[in-house]
Amino acid sequence: MKIFIDTANIEEIRKTAELGILDGVTTNPSLIAKEGRDLKQVISEICSIVDGPISAEVISLDAEDMVKEAKELSKLHKNVVIKIPICEEGLKAVNILSKEGIKTNVTLIFSAQQALLAAKSGASFVSPFIGRVDDIGNGGLEIVRDISDIFNIYGLETQIIAASIRNPMHVLECAKVGCDVVTVPYKVIMQMIKHPLTDIGIKKFLQDYKKSNKRI
Ligand code: G3P
Repeated sequence: MKIFIDTANIEEIRKTAELGILDGVTTNPSLIAKEGRDLKQVISEICSIVDGPISAEVISLDAEDMVKEAKELSKLHKNVVIKIPICEEGLKAVNILSKEGIKTNVTLIFSAQQALLAAKSGASFVSPFIGRVDDIGNGGLEIVRDISDIFNIYGLETQIIAASIRNPMHVLECAKVGCDVVTVPYKVIMQMIKHPLTDIGIKKFLQDYKKSNKRI
C-alpha cells in the first residue's frame, strides 16, 4: 500500500520524506488556504521534494474552466495530478483530461456508485473520504471495501486513495482491505510510529546499559 501525506505544509512534507515512507502528496483548497500561500508555488515546491503523484485541486465549478485550470496546474510538473470533485461537470472534465493523458484524482467520494462512475470516466484515482462518513455515524471503511471489490471484479485500473483519515486504525483497516493508497495527515503518521511499549523498551535498554557500564 502506498502512503501519501495529506497536507500542504512544506515542513511536514520534508520531515516525512526524510523517513523514506512517502509515495506522494494530496492537497485540497482548505489545506492550501491554511498555509496562506499561492497554490502554484506550494505545488511546485512539493514536487521538488517528493517524487510521486502530487494532487492539486481545481476550484472551478464548470467543466470548461476545470479543464483550463487543470492544464495550467499540470504544466507545473509531470507528477501533478488534478483533483476534481465528483459531480456532472467534474466527470465531463475528467473525461476530457483523461483522453489528453492528464491524470485525475476524483475527490469528495462518499459512495461506491460515485467511485464507479469516476473510474468509468477515466479517473486515475478516486478519493473516498472515510473520516467524514464516520463523523456522521456511517461506516467509511465499508465504502472503501465496496469500491475495492467492484474495481477488482471489473478489472478497473483506477487506484483508490483512502482520504479523510483520522487515526492509525483507519490506516490499518485500509491496508487490510487492500486499498492502493492511503493519504494520511502528519499527526496520524506520527501516531503510527509511536507505541508505549516501544518507549518503555527504549528507556529500559538504556537504563540497563548504563547500569552495566558503571559496573565495568
Ligand atoms: O484531502 C481530502 C481529505 O483527506 C480531507 O480530510 O480531514 O478534511 O475530512 P478531512
